[in-house]
Amino acid sequence: MNILLLGSGGRESAIAWKIKQSGKCDTLYIAPGNAGTDTIGQNVNIKADDFGQIARFVKENGIGMVVVGPEDPLVKGIYDYFKNDAQLKDIPVIGPSKEGARLEGSKSYAKAFMQKYGIPTAAYRKFTAAEYDEGVKFLDTLTPPYVLKADGLAAGKGVLIINDRDEAAAELKEMLGGMFGQASSTVVIEEFMSGIECSVFVLTDGKDYKILPEAKDYKRIGEGDTGPNTGGMGAVSPVSFADSAFMRKVEEKIVKPTIAGLQAEKIEYKGFIFLGLINVGGEPKVIEYNVRMGDPETEAVMLRIKSDLVELLQATAEGRLGECTLETDPRYAVTVMLVSGGYPGAYEKGKAITVTGTTGESILFHAGTAKTPDGETVTSGGRVIAVSSYGNSKQEALDKSYKAAEAINFDNKYCRRDIGFDLK
Ligand code: AMP
Ligand code: GLY
Repeated sequence: MNILLLGSGGRESAIAWKIKQSGKCDTLYIAPGNAGTDTIGQNVNIKADDFGQIARFVKENGIGMVVVGPEDPLVKGIYDYFKNDAQLKDIPVIGPSKEGARLEGSKSYAKAFMQKYGIPTAAYRKFTAAEYDEGVKFLDTLTPPYVLKADGLAAGKGVLIINDRDEAAAELKEMLGGMFGQASSTVVIEEFMSGIECSVFVLTDGKDYKILPEAKDYKRIGEGDTGPNTGGMGAVSPVSFADSAFMRKVEEKIVKPTIAGLQAEKIEYKGFIFLGLINVGGEPKVIEYNVRMGDPETEAVMLRIKSDLVELLQATAEGRLGECTLETDPRYAVTVMLVSGGYPGAYEKGKAITVTGTTGESILFHAGTAKTPDGETVTSGGRVIAVSSYGNSKQEALDKSYKAAEAINFDNKYCRRDIGFDLK
């Protein structure tokens, strides 16, 4: 089967790597991809949300399945777009319908869903500009810090956590006034939850599910979780506190009611669910849903899936996931992100990437890379390369990634040296 994978980051590099290991994949195309994905499959110069061009390409190239990496095409309704096209309706798109993608596309929708189906999460209310005064009154019922979230997609920047009540009220006004454009015309205010976070990934065909290996990502730019948020600086799987007792609670209290809720709402969902969880005194609570895999968690999680991913995705599309078994690798897998100096603020692009010496057994997942017309690989984003490794311990895996990271050169390279610091 020919497969089209949409996206261009480290997550898509890792998914491409795993898809390519399957005997069921003939040609793998990645749209638009990066310099690394072009060595795994074949890049196609089409944007991941250009449905018209994607449709044309799928028809002309005998594509049998479309796998969606990022949330944008899902939130914009690529699943429904295919379903509504006579020639495309039988070609599976791995991802939720537009309605299902609202679990990520609208925080208030996700909160209402969780409340309706009894899924543990922070107490909340939502407010529009006309309800500003009520929003401030609601702040006064909470204890600081205050959590303010833009309802819509805001490129990962739409969450503010503020200690001071007056500052929170002022920020609420700014948000409702358009700080994040349309995305913050509604704001969710919620209770602050204190604990350690992890990401759990579920593959579902809408009735059955498989829980994939969990991971913890490191979002802040600075060591010790300091400084501004990034897209993610590294990840570790497994997560020591996500032991079998914790994961049983995740399955019973979160995964099962989530799938039951999707069914009750008649939401078509054949794809990945990303549960952003927080461990509050041993109890898992949902911070957010995403409707795709996480980045950079995927660059660790894919290493821990032993089963054939294409088989699992086909079973997902055909509603046969219940017949499949998921085999996982017991080893640790970690990823360390090499980023451009300055990121997540301003940074330069176009820096030549070279390798001196050996990167050992580590797997280099390209994130923000591109090829120049004369064939040189250069940086093209803040997050440049995710260096992933296996190990019999977390430390062994990290040592391998850090050693490989030293062999990779580009101007102003930076990585966090403390990935996994807060885990056993
Ligand atoms: P989100 O975009 O919803 O994942 O929020 C971004 C980050 O803000 C999360 O990864 C958490 O670190 C933090 N956060 C969000 N909501 C809460 C909450 N209710 N309590 C504590 N931290 C939160
Ligand atoms: N690593 C968090 C995310 O992908 O949203």
